[in-house]
This record gives sequence, C-alpha cells and structure tokens, in this order.
Amino acid sequence: MVPISAGTALQALDAGRVERGQKVLILGASGGVGSYAVQLAKSFGAEVTGVSSTGKTDLVRSLGADHVLDYTQDDFADGARQFDLIVDIGGNPTLSRLRRALTATGTAVIVGGEEGGRWAGGFGRSLRAPFVSLFVRQRLAMLASKERASDLERLTPLLEAGQVTPSVERTYPLDEVRDAMSHLDAGNVRGKIAITVFSNDGGS
Ligand SMILES: NC(=O)c1ccc[n+]([C@@H]2O[C@H](COP(=O)([O-])OP(=O)(O)OC[C@H]3O[C@@H](n4cnc5c(N)ncnc54)[C@H](OP(=O)(O)O)[C@@H]3O)[C@@H](O)[C@H]2O)c1
Repeated sequence: MVPISAGTALQALDAGRVERGQKVLILGASGGVGSYAVQLAKSFGAEVTGVSSTGKTDLVRSLGADHVLDYTQDDFADGARQFDLIVDIGGNPTLSRLRRALTATGTAVIVGGEEGGRWAGGFGRSLRAPFVSLFVRQRLAMLASKERASDLERLTPLLEAGQVTPSVERTYPLDEVRDAMSHLDAGNVRGKIAITVFSNDGGS
C-alpha cells in the first residue's frame, strides 16, 4: 500500500518542478512526508539537503540525503547556500527566510507547519506565499495535496524496486493506539509509525 505521505511528497516535488542536478532542501526531512520527499528527490536525480533535529540526522542521512543540517545548530537561511527548490514541511520559517535560502529564480513549496495564527486559521504564511510570488522572480507556492491514482502508479514501481522505502520506526497493535499517539505527539517518531488493524494469526 502507498501511504498518503508519499503522495504528498511527490506532489510537492511536482509543484516545485524538480529537475535532475538541482539543489533541493527538505525542511522536516525526518518526518512522515519528509522521509519520502528525501528519497523521491534523490530518485529524480537532485542533490538533497535534509533538515531535522539532532537525534534524527542519522535517519535523514540513511534516507540518502547528500547533506544534513541540524536545525538546533545550523541555520538553512544563513546565506551560506542557496537552493533551487525548498520543500517546506516543518519549522514554519518566514517567507523572507525561505526567500533568502533560494536562488534568484528558485521555488519554495509550503507543505506544512501551520502557525496557529488568529486570522487565517494558521495558514497565513501559506496564503501570503502566492501573493508575494507575483512581485518577485522566485516562486512561492502552497500545496493542498489530493489522493490521485496517477501518483500511486508512479510510486508503486519505485517502492517495488526499493528505490523508495517507507521509513516505519515501529508498528503498534490496535489496542496500543494511545501509546502510539503519545509517541507521535511528543515529536519522537523517526519517519512514521504504523498501527496493525488486522493480523494473519487469527487476531484482529
Ligand atoms: N499541504 C498538504 O496537503 C499536507 C499533506 C500532508 C501533511 N501536511 C502537513 O505537513 C506537516 C508535516 O507532516 P508529517 O506527517 O511529515 O509530520 P511529522 O512526521 O510530525 O514531521 C514533522 C517534521 O518537521 C520537522 N521539524 C520540526 N521543527 C523543525 C524546524 N525548526 N526545522 C525543520 N524541520 C522541523 C520534524 O523534525 P524532527 O522530528 O527531527 O524534530 C519532522 O521531520 C504537517 O503540518 C501536516 O499537517 C500537509
């Protein structure tokens, strides 16, 4: 089965018109969507930099990222590097920080990181992005992903070939779903967790 996170990652890279050889930054590379985004961007031939917390940099490297930044120590927008594409999945950077880390004609695709703002239901940054884009050479876009059969058709061979692998840290039985959600809420999950609803041993 192909998870929704994989489709979201694919649609974000499509929206960013990723190309072979491009420098791509994945903010939130250790999470559910980001762990697919890193692998998919690599499979498309991009040079990938992944950003995560300290304890998950090893995971991001194992997903195939060429470079890894630890957001507790490194600032992706310090001007030291510029990216053709930023897939912004976590961290809520301001639009100006995203723009600072982009090349002159680069693209940022905002996938996640609701701000909890009062006026736009937390989506103010995402809503401002296309407006700002009208006045600058860089492209700032927000993603509202959809489930699409065509994505599944593209993802299935990559998964079957092992070019993309679901990063499942742990599987919980259904009766431990509360523990699973606590683990998720605490931000401790590396990649994704799975809940087993049916098992083959006669249990449910
Ligand atoms: N637009 C859409 O259609 C769409 C679709 C699906 C999901 N989403 C949204 O996408 C977001 C991520 O979903 P998910 O399932 O991947 O969540 P997740 O598994 O919880 O991952 C969140 C990621 O954000 C990272 N992060 C936290 N603070 C950061 C910072 N300061 N800088 C860089 N990265 C940081 C986390 O890194 P550490 O764990 O290492 O701290 C983690 O990799 C959510 O906001 C979700 O609502 C949007």
